[in-house]
Amino acid sequence: MIEFRHVTKTFPQGRSTVTALDDIDLTIAENEMFGIVGESGSGKSTLLRLINHLEAPTSGAVRVDGEDLSALPARAQRERRRRIAMVFQQFNLLANSTVFDNVAMPLRLQGRRERDTVMQMLEFVKMAGHRDKHPSTLSGGEKQRVAIARALANRPRILLCDEPTSALDSGHTEEIMATLDEVRTQFHTTIVLVSHELDVIKSSCDRAAVLEQGRLAALTDVVAPPTRERTGSYADRAREYLA
Ligand SMILES: Nc1ncnc2c1ncn2[C@@H]1O[C@H](COP(=O)(O)OP(=O)(O)OP(=O)(O)O)[C@@H](O)[C@H]1O
Ligand SMILES: [Mg+2]
Repeated sequence: MIEFRHVTKTFPQGRSTVTALDDIDLTIAENEMFGIVGESGSGKSTLLRLINHLEAPTSGAVRVDGEDLSALPARAQRERRRRIAMVFQQFNLLANSTVFDNVAMPLRLQGRRERDTVMQMLEFVKMAGHRDKHPSTLSGGEKQRVAIARALANRPRILLCDEPTSALDSGHTEEIMATLDEVRTQFHTTIVLVSHELDVIKSSCDRAAVLEQGRLAALTDVVAPPTRERTGSYADRAREYLA
């Protein structure tokens, strides 16, 4: 459902150009959890930004459901883009708004006041009881759950996640990965997950692309690690692992 065909993306840098992505060919299937790994600067975020057309390719084509967004009129582009949501490392929540208002924001921007939708999403991420709090009073894991609820408010078909667990400790990382697994199962969402944490990719993704200096260095099926225990407290697991 997401296709990259000979996609190259360059940025001007002084008098020369930097090649962020170099001739990428890739197809991501519907309802897949697809990982993207690579060193800093290898082009991971650029690849995500091409999927929701925050960036346009310099050459080649990016298609979602067979459509090249850059070929559509502006109104259709906006409408299609709404079906693609994004989650970031630093959560990007509005500090002066409550949890409820943060999740309601993407709907309000379209003039929609759908209290039930907001509450459903907050219940889905188990944050309904925190709806009147401000982000600064929440843990990192809780903030990311609110960000996921906000991303889901428009019922996107595709969820792009740029290092969603990189600011979190291992307990919260597992909680967020479990939430993303749930998103995929319950809402049939296609998830593209950028992470430098190989454990995160290994535990959840079906396939992964390895980027190296903008090139697709490998495209691999991911084999799940042998029984990875998601339950138990951090202290329990630390004791078990260290003993
Ligand atoms: N808007 C931009 N203008 C100029 N250069 C850019 C821009 N966006 C990305 N680049 C360059 O493109 C290359 C890939 O950047 P990108 O942000 O995609 O890497 P990344 O793999 O996400 O890195 P990180 O792990 O640090 O987030 C880098 O060399 C970067 O400097
Ligand atoms: Mg990045």
